[in-house]
Amino acid sequence: MRNWHGEGIWYGADYNPEQWPEQTWAEDVELMRRAGVNLVSVGIFSWALLEPTPGRYVFDWLDRAIDLLHDGGISVDLATATASPPPWLAHRHPETLPRRADGTVLWPGGRQAYCPSSPVFRDHSLALVEAVARRYARHAAVVLWHVSNELGCHNVHCYCDVSAEAFRRWLRERYGDLDSLNAAWGTAFWSQRYHDWAEINPPRTAPTFANPTQQLDFLRFSSDEQRAQLRAERELLNRLVPQPVTTNFMIGTGIKYLDYHSWASDVDVVANDHYLTAADPQPQVNLALAADHTRGVAGGAPWLLMEHSTSAVNWQPRNVAKTPGQMRRNSLAHVARGADGVLFFQWRASRAGAEKFHSALVPHAGPDTKVFREVCRLGADLRALAEVRGSRVDADVAILFDYEAWWGAELDSHPSVDVTYTDRLSALHAALWRAGITADVVHPSADLSRYRLVLAPTLYLVRDADADALRRFVEAGGTAVVTYFSGIVDEHDHIRLGGYPGAFRDLLGVRVEEFFPLRDGETVSLDDGARADVWTEWLHAEGAEVLAAYTDGPLPGVPALTRNAVGAGAAWYVGTRLDDDATDRLVARLLAETGVRPPVSAPAGVEVVRRRSADRSWLFVVNHTTEPARLAVSGVELLGGARCDGELEVPAGEVAVVREEPAPVPATA
Ligand code: GLA
Repeated sequence: MRNWHGEGIWYGADYNPEQWPEQTWAEDVELMRRAGVNLVSVGIFSWALLEPTPGRYVFDWLDRAIDLLHDGGISVDLATATASPPPWLAHRHPETLPRRADGTVLWPGGRQAYCPSSPVFRDHSLALVEAVARRYARHAAVVLWHVSNELGCHNVHCYCDVSAEAFRRWLRERYGDLDSLNAAWGTAFWSQRYHDWAEINPPRTAPTFANPTQQLDFLRFSSDEQRAQLRAERELLNRLVPQPVTTNFMIGTGIKYLDYHSWASDVDVVANDHYLTAADPQPQVNLALAADHTRGVAGGAPWLLMEHSTSAVNWQPRNVAKTPGQMRRNSLAHVARGADGVLFFQWRASRAGAEKFHSALVPHAGPDTKVFREVCRLGADLRALAEVRGSRVDADVAILFDYEAWWGAELDSHPSVDVTYTDRLSALHAALWRAGITADVVHPSADLSRYRLVLAPTLYLVRDADADALRRFVEAGGTAVVTYFSGIVDEHDHIRLGGYPGAFRDLLGVRVEEFFPLRDGETVSLDDGARADVWTEWLHAEGAEVLAAYTDGPLPGVPALTRNAVGAGAAWYVGTRLDDDATDRLVARLLAETGVRPPVSAPAGVEVVRRRSADRSWLFVVNHTTEPARLAVSGVELLGGARCDGELEVPAGEVAVVREEPAPVPATA
């Protein structure tokens, strides 16, 4: 991995100078310096300007922009510019356009209108990467390369003939022979047996439900095709440039179809884009989940927040502006959770184009604005946090996350449309957030030995090796929690027979003989006072202790919550969808059982996260409430520069970062 760190925390934005007359550029650099910006992403959507006709490259404007930034002391994250092809590509090669499952062609005019499997697109894009790389490999401003942009954001699934051929190649590679494919896809069902590879297609619009394993494999293939573009560009860059390489992931904003856990090894630094959901009354909780997941994808290492917004976006139904202080809290919460860089989309709000109502660092109203003043304040904050760079986040809890389990869990023709993959993930993570506990969101194959508590929400699809790893974690003294609709199928989406939740049945000491999903809006009660909805099941405790049973609904008296002592640890099972109060109570019991505690106790709504290096630690305190918060902390508060001895006061809506003195001993030491 090439080093991507600078001297402190990176701070900046996408910078699109091509949208502005050159007179504006000098003012841009002057304002960037005023704001403390030290890194900008340049050239992301510049292909049509850099290569106006095939093979003719025009770099003079980009030379001038990058030189100007360099003169201003601002580093560049240089895009390969392949994010969106110029109109001439589709005009000359219409076969590069992507198609939906029903055959609809997606035309140029927006962005990303290319088939990810198109060799024509690949060749043209790599020729561009080579030209850009050769031109700027030695430019002193360039510290990082930015492959494409949000790969697969709009074109992840293409069903055209070129994609069909690529899918067949991918399947041959995976299965070797047709018998294996037929077995994996269960084609004995509904007369689907394939006798020739040429008969196989992507799961195009069909009269009824398409084969689920065909669908699952197509999702795997599609993620791999996007990843292949990343790998092809990175390999080329690695040969031509000395700097590190990244691309921006979209973890935690509902983007489902890119298996980022498998992509992480293809970048020198994991970079993520995160936007708040305006309709969410507590968006800081989802932000924390996205950051915890990004850190999990990064294997616990620091990562880069490549994009978020200073205020409103433009692509939601109602684009709510950030209130004063909210952007600062958002940014510093990302840093608390492992980001060593805070960048935004975009530097200057556009005059034209589809994103002209998206916020930026310099709004349409100019620098004399709340947004730009907050941008300058954040720049000063991040400068004061330089020493935090490279440190890691403390977490004793892991939540397992697998994109393939997500894909599988939400295929069609399942017991209930109300069972969605991220529902229990979000509910459990939010309960931990309310309890002040930081969790890493990791792949089931991650090393679990450093955790005390591991949660497996809706892990519908699980491999044998990953189920075994969870058992070993429990045997060695860990506490695991599995929620309903987990362990149901293997990697081919075949049911694990003998009773649910197949892969975890023995570990949990339970056997489910039948699912009893609830009707829309129907609720049930448990004999410990909990309320639940969506899901119940006919569960037998086979070795597990019953902690709560239903008092009503379709299964009165049947266990709903169990705990099984295994080896030196315990495995809990939650067979229904507990409401938030009951989830909070469950989490409180788990924390009591495992001895996991927050870094310091804090009032509700005050987020506290600890980062730690070999010999120092920093406590981030983000006060999301309208009241001042007092915490028992000693050390130096870096944003204000004052010492605190035993008591830290953080005013309403403000953030504090304390270098703790003395640094506390890690809980696991
Ligand atoms: C994404 C893209 C940016 C921009 C923003 C708007 O993150 O990468 O180009 O479209 O969304 O929020």
